[in-house]
Amino acid sequence: MTASAPIPSSDPTERQPRAYGDELHGRGCPIAHGAGDEVVIVGHAEALAAATDAEAFSSAVSRFLQIPNGLDGEEHAAFRRLLDRYLALEVVDGYADEFLAAARSTITELVTDETVTVDAVAQLGATYAVRSMLAWLGWPVSMEQRLIDWVIANNEATRSGELERTAAVAEEFDAIIRDALAESPADSVTRRLVRDESLGRPLESAEVISILRNWTGGDLSSMAYCIGVILAALVEIPALQDRLREWEYVSDAEFVAIMDEILRRDSPFVSNRRITTGPVSVGGAELPAGQSVRIHWTAANRDPRRFGEPDAYDPEANAAQNLVWGAGPHACPGKDLSMLELRAFIDELLAVVTVTAADTAAGERETHPVGGWASLPVTLTRR
Ligand code: HEM
Repeated sequence: MTASAPIPSSDPTERQPRAYGDELHGRGCPIAHGAGDEVVIVGHAEALAAATDAEAFSSAVSRFLQIPNGLDGEEHAAFRRLLDRYLALEVVDGYADEFLAAARSTITELVTDETVTVDAVAQLGATYAVRSMLAWLGWPVSMEQRLIDWVIANNEATRSGELERTAAVAEEFDAIIRDALAESPADSVTRRLVRDESLGRPLESAEVISILRNWTGGDLSSMAYCIGVILAALVEIPALQDRLREWEYVSDAEFVAIMDEILRRDSPFVSNRRITTGPVSVGGAELPAGQSVRIHWTAANRDPRRFGEPDAYDPEANAAQNLVWGAGPHACPGKDLSMLELRAFIDELLAVVTVTAADTAAGERETHPVGGWASLPVTLTRR
C-alpha cells in the first residue's frame, strides 16, 4: 500500500469495538491498518464517504453468494428493488400485532414474580428476536428452540474466529432455511419470495437461501444485541423509561430518534467490508486498487470531530449524522422492520415493568466483530 500520510497500526480484533474506535479518535487517526492487510476506517466523514461511493468501494468482498450485501451496481440495485418491497413500512406494518404478541409472550414467561433478574440479551433479546422473526417470515413456531440454539452457536463461532466452527453453523443455518421453506404457508413472506418473478425470472434456490440468510442473520443477532444496548441505556437514563411509557404521546418519529441515538453511542452492528476498485484517497492516505477496507460503524458513530462528547445523549443534534444503519446504496433496508419490532417490545416491556441495574452481577461486553453487550443482567420490577 502506498500512503501519502503515515497510517498507524491498530488491530480491531484485539479490542472491544467501542474502545478500539475511541482509542484511535483520541490519537486523531481517522484510519488505521487493521488485521492482515486491511485498512479500517473509523472517522465519521471518511466512513460516510466510503459508504456512499460504492463505485470506488466495492461490496464484492466474499467468494460466497451474498444477496444483496455482496453485489455492486445495477445487479445490486435490481435485487434491492425486489427486496425493498418486502421490507417497506406499509408492508411490515401489517405484522405489528404479531410483534406485540411475541413481545407479550416473551415478557410474560420471564416476569414470573414481582421482581426478577434476567439477561437482557440472551433471554429477553434473543427470544423476542426469534419469535418476531418467525411471525414475520411465516416459519413454524416449532423452530424456535432450534433458532435460539443457532443464534448462541453462531455468536460463539463468530467470537472464536475458527473457520471450521463458522462453516458448521453456516451449514446448519442452510438446513434450517430448507426446512422452513418446506413448512411455511403459501401466503407467507418466505413462500412469496420463492414465487417472486419481478426480476423477469424465478429466483434460483441458492438466491432464495442467500436472501433468507441475510434477512434472518441480520434480524436475529442484531435485534438481540440492540435490545441489550437499549436496556442498558434505559437503566442509565431512567427519564427515558418515563417518556417511552407515555407511548400514546410518543410518535413513531420520536421513538425512532430515541432508538437511533441510543444505538449511535454503542452500535452493536460493528462493521462491513469493502474492496477498492481503483486508487482512492481516504483520510489523507492514498489507497491502491484491490485494498481491503473495513468501514467501522461503531467507531464512526462515536467520532468526537462529528459528535463532540460521544456518550452525550442528544437525539436532535446527532440524528442527521447517525450511521447505525449504514449509508449509501447498501444502507440497511431492515430499519423500518427493526423499529416496528423494537417499538412493540419496548412499549410492552415498559407497560409491565421498571428496568433497573441488577445488583447480582455486572454485564459483560462483546468483543470484535460484535459490539454491545454479550450479557447484561437487568432487574425487572412489576409496576
Ligand atoms: C436490528 C438492527 C440492525 C442494524 C443495526 C442493521 C445495520 C445494518 C447496516 C449498518 C447495514 C449496511 C451494510 C453495508 O453497508 O455493507 C445493513 C445492511 C443490511 N441489512 Fe441491516 N441492520 C439491522 C437489522 C436488519 C433487519 C431486521 C434486516 C432484514 C430483515 C436487515 C437486512 C439488511 C440487509 C439485507 C442489508 C444489506 C443491504 C445491501 O447490501 O443493500 N437488517 N444493516
